[in-house]
Amino acid sequence: MRYLVTGGLGFIGSAFIRLLVAERPKVEIVNLDAMTYAANPANLASIAENPRYRFIKGDITDPAAVAAAIGEGVDAIVNFAAETHVDRSILDPEAFLRTDILGTHTLLEALRERRIPRYLQVSTDEVYGDVESGESIESSPLRPRSPYSASKAGGDLQVLAYRATYNLPILVTRGSNTYGPYQYPEKLIPLFVTNLIDDASVPLYGDGQQVRDWLHVEDHARGILTVLERGEPGEIYNIGGGNPRTNLEITRRLLAGCGRSFESHVRHVADREGHDRRYAISSSKAHALGWRPTVEFERGLEATIAWYRENESWWRPLKSGEFLAYYQRQYAHR
Ligand code: DAU
Repeated sequence: MRYLVTGGLGFIGSAFIRLLVAERPKVEIVNLDAMTYAANPANLASIAENPRYRFIKGDITDPAAVAAAIGEGVDAIVNFAAETHVDRSILDPEAFLRTDILGTHTLLEALRERRIPRYLQVSTDEVYGDVESGESIESSPLRPRSPYSASKAGGDLQVLAYRATYNLPILVTRGSNTYGPYQYPEKLIPLFVTNLIDDASVPLYGDGQQVRDWLHVEDHARGILTVLERGEPGEIYNIGGGNPRTNLEITRRLLAGCGRSFESHVRHVADREGHDRRYAISSSKAHALGWRPTVEFERGLEATIAWYRENESWWRPLKSGEFLAYYQRQYAHR
């Protein structure tokens, strides 16, 4: 078996590749990654020399790069490649439309031409938009409210349209907020942990009462593998952690884990524009395939804090150059 994994140098994609290498000895992996700012070869340093793994630098919007990565053929494409940070999409939406919509289209065209037997689109619970009460199921309406989530929803709709029109063997997963080692330090948990380690303040948006459902990255990767192997073609599967927490609760836990106080280290800043208050998904379809998250949230969070403490050499170089320019643009005026 040969799988083409796109965006495999990113946070969730690299966890998925590490899982494949560890647990699927008959699978060869081609990783096509454009190496944007959030990609990091260090995420796969532990398996980079494995003979079953091959890396190709290239963009999913480029049909020639996709063709080269498919080569003689692959048994599946798993598309992790995406622009993913909501705040960046508010500052600069164009890259999101390119990668998340046009890139998906390029992969789907390859799927159609090459008759590849399976395609999995890694998507997000953000496509359902703000969920005031209850839980979104896979057939719930899409109500994306940020340029990021609208671009992901656009990708999902392309994938579903190729199913309806060309009867292609596609699957979609919609994951909830993911945390764990190797996450680029722009997102809530790694940003706050690394700031706190450095004795810097953390910028909490608005009243901090927004709710996210937290999923450990290894559980997320395993959920995607379960859907790839056991999902019904044409179907969508929610993959949620089952750990709803307010941002305030997360912040308090991170402060405690890093030995810092709320009064001295929390900076209340202006809310995110169009900020979704709550995401909540039902994952019973994925549960029916035999998948369940296994990492207990409080333990997973503690282990994540410990990982960032022990792996400064991984994240410290990232918090310079491009990141500092972004941080300034994003937070200085708030
Ligand atoms: O729900 C799945 C989605 O989760 C993924 O599709 C996205 O790729 C991923 O970025 C994440 O989106 P969020 O916007 O929920 O994640 P983020 O870590 O940016 O923010 C989590 C919450 O924390 C959100 O309510 C905004 C808040 N926040 C975030 C940052 C970066 C702050 O209060 N301050 C901050 O500085």
